[in-house]
Amino acid sequence: MVNKVRAAVFPVAGRGTRFLPATKASPKEMLPIVDKPLIQYAVEEAIAAGARKLIFVTGASKRAIEDHFDTDAELEQALTDSGKHDLLQSIQGIVPNGVSCIYIRQGKPLGLGHAVLCARPAVGNEPFFVHLADDLIAGSTGCLSQMAREYEDHGGSVVAVENVPPESTSSYGIVAVDTSNRSRITQIVEKPKPADAPSNSAVVGRYLLSGEIFDKLETIGEGAGGEIQLTDGIAALLDKSPVYAYSFEGVRYDCGSKLGYLQATVAYGLSHPETGDQFREHLRKVLAD
Ligand code: G1P
Repeated sequence: MVNKVRAAVFPVAGRGTRFLPATKASPKEMLPIVDKPLIQYAVEEAIAAGARKLIFVTGASKRAIEDHFDTDAELEQALTDSGKHDLLQSIQGIVPNGVSCIYIRQGKPLGLGHAVLCARPAVGNEPFFVHLADDLIAGSTGCLSQMAREYEDHGGSVVAVENVPPESTSSYGIVAVDTSNRSRITQIVEKPKPADAPSNSAVVGRYLLSGEIFDKLETIGEGAGGEIQLTDGIAALLDKSPVYAYSFEGVRYDCGSKLGYLQATVAYGLSHPETGDQFREHLRKVLAD
């Protein structure tokens, strides 16, 4: 029997320069898809997978994230007074009872591996999720829930992967796996050029990691781009403890790019109970012109 995963780490310190000027004073994780910010989708996915301790690794200009997950007594009172009960519920249920939020500052932008290492005091030696809110995954079962099921089956660590076009390998961590052994990862490389990539199986922003990763992250030093890379920490773990690649069910939208963000907005707008029908009609008209 493995321990249930209770901690989820959200590295949210990045500046989101690809979305400037929108992200000049407001975090990229607060960009909305229809009516919820990206970070709320992330938190909902983690809670559905069993997380009860949400650890945000934040940086400068990220106060809005803390405010979003805090109670707003004044707004709640105003919604109560005006009888807007649905809206009241939508803000009161953001962080359910029994779930706690912890905020840790990543003093310097030293990379994703460093951000995860900053969460160590809050995680301890337990297994934990890492969720990158830029990667929004739509599906009937959340990606982290799918990964937690895999983990309960065989322990170790689990990394979500999907195939990308071979020319895109330099945007992702890329893995090689042993297909005869439950897709155990044999090699993982951060952002290799297509010619150097061991496959086109790319890591997306979902990880379920054993607490053993922290000792590796302490010692690996700088990797690609002069940053402490989570990928290199995982590479250092491979011999010691199994890490499995998991091909999730669902559609991933890269909301760190403008096109991916727009695609997500269209998909979620079309399936939203309030906007779906009219939005579909509108898109038909626009495309017919
Ligand atoms: C990070 C990781 C990379 C992974 C990607 C998934 O890169 O370093 O290995 O494939 O997330 O989104 P970033 O997109 O932050 O440059």
